[in-house]
Amino acid sequence: MRHDRFTTQLLTNVDRIIARDRSAESRLHDVCTALAARLPGYDWVGFYIVDPRHPRELILGPFAGEETEHVRIPFGSGVCGHVADVDHTVIVDDVRARQNYLSCSIAVRSEIVIPVRWQGKFIGELDIDSHTEGRFTAEDRALLEAVAARVASTVEDYRGNLEADCHE
Ligand code: SME
Repeated sequence: MRHDRFTTQLLTNVDRIIARDRSAESRLHDVCTALAARLPGYDWVGFYIVDPRHPRELILGPFAGEETEHVRIPFGSGVCGHVADVDHTVIVDDVRARQNYLSCSIAVRSEIVIPVRWQGKFIGELDIDSHTEGRFTAEDRALLEAVAARVASTVEDYRGNLEADCHE
């Protein structure tokens, strides 16, 4: 990963957001907003979370960007479902060339999806769409994997809240 000032500041900002005394939902939303605001071409930034009640399905979590119809994605379906199956980062340079793809907006050209793991277990993912073809590089990947590690405990808290809501 680049260890330049920008990267250091961004990761420090993520750490600050995560440390705030606010709900897991609002902190994850603020992380999405910060990434979308600071990184050009990050046009949609959001979390998909493994549903505690249906462990082979992802549900849409906090996000920054346009509303999406893909609020629930089975493992294996689209880029997000594929990453849930393989548990490693996937970069798609041109979504038009990909068959297993769920379109959120016709303007999207490229996408990166990063797994979020807690105590070694896949619990969700960070999904970013760009209107620019080939937007995501190895540097984005390294940066976003560092972000995913920093937010993992908050994603786990968010999942815990989903489960609690279900038992109420
Ligand atoms: N494009 C994703 C679906 C999620 S939206 O990008 C927000 C996919 O193919 O899984």
